[in-house]
Amino acid sequence: MARWIYGVGGFLVILSFYFFLFYSVRAFNITPDRPSASFTAPDYRFVLVTEEIDNDYWRLVEKGAREAATKYNVSLEYTGPKQANLEEHIKTIEMAAASKPDGIMAQGLNQDVSATIINHVTEKGIPFLTVDTDAPDSKRVAYVGTDNYYAGFLAGQALLKDTIDEVKVGIITGRFDSANQKLRVEGFKDAIKYSDRVDVVAIDASQITRIQAAEKTYEMIKAHPEINAFYGTSALDAIGIVQVLESIGMTDQVYVIGFDVLPETMQLLKDGKLEATVEQKPYEMGYNAVELMIQIIEGEDVSTYHHTKTEVLRKKDLKQLERTTPGGIKLP
Ligand code: BGC
Repeated sequence: MARWIYGVGGFLVILSFYFFLFYSVRAFNITPDRPSASFTAPDYRFVLVTEEIDNDYWRLVEKGAREAATKYNVSLEYTGPKQANLEEHIKTIEMAAASKPDGIMAQGLNQDVSATIINHVTEKGIPFLTVDTDAPDSKRVAYVGTDNYYAGFLAGQALLKDTIDEVKVGIITGRFDSANQKLRVEGFKDAIKYSDRVDVVAIDASQITRIQAAEKTYEMIKAHPEINAFYGTSALDAIGIVQVLESIGMTDQVYVIGFDVLPETMQLLKDGKLEATVEQKPYEMGYNAVELMIQIIEGEDVSTYHHTKTEVLRKKDLKQLERTTPGGIKLP
C-alpha cells in the first residue's frame, strides 16, 4: 500500500515539474529563435483634445482621426474633460503640450482664453490645428470644420422657409462661452433679421448636455408660452427639446430645428418629431485634421480654412440619403 502511495506521489512530482517547466518557458517566452512580432514605431504622435470625452459627436471626430492615424502610421491620443468645462479644456491642452507631441488638434473654444494657450503651444514649436471651432486670432496653423456662422444662417433660412405666420423662437445653445455656438446664434439671427414675423424671445445654455437642454426647454416654455419654434445649436440640444415637447404632447404644434446627424437625431427626423437638422461632418473633421497635420509637419504649404460640408436635412431628404456615411452613421 505504502509503495503504491509513493509511486503515485513520485508520478505527481514529475508531472508538476513538467508543467512547471512548460509554463515557465511559455511565460518567459524562452524560445531563442522565435521570430519577434513586427513592430514599426509610429512616424508621428498627435493629440486630439475634445470638448467632452464621451460625447457622441466627439466620438465621431475621434473615429475619423483614428482611421487616418492608422493609415498614416501616426499614434493618436484622444483626451479631454469628462464634462464640458473651459478651464479643464485649457489644462488638458497644456498637459498635452508638456508631453511634446508632434501636433495638437483642438477647438478654439473661447476666443481670448484659447488664443493665449494656442500661441503658447505654437511658440514651443508644436503645430496647432483648430478643429470644429476656430480661433482666427490665434497662431493656429489652420482650421478644419464647419463654417459655424454659415451653418447658423442656414438654420435661420430653413426656419423661414418652413414656417408661415408669426414665429416666436426659443434658442437652446450649447454654451454661452463657445465661439462656435455664438456664431451659430449670430448667423441664425442675421438670417431672420429682415423678417417681421419671426422673433427670438429667449435663449439659454444646455452645457452641451441633453438633460440640461430638456430642463432649459421646460423652463422656457413655462416662462414664454408663446414659443412655437425651437432652435438647438449643439448636437444634443434638439434631442432634449423634443423629449420635453413629447412629454407635454406638443411635438405637432412646435417647429424644431437642431444640429448634427447623430443616430437619435435622425430617428427623430424620421418620426417627424424634429423638422430639420443642420448636418456637420465630424468624421471628416477628424480624418482631414490628421492628414493636414502631416502635411504641415512635412513642410507643405496648406491653406488656412478647410471648411467641411454643412447642409440642412429634413424628413423628405432621408429617402435620398439611403447610405451609410463614412462616420458609420446609419441614416434611417
Ligand atoms: C458642436 C461641438 C459640440 C457638440 C456638443 C456639436 O454640434 O459642433 O462643438 O461639442 O455639438 O454635443
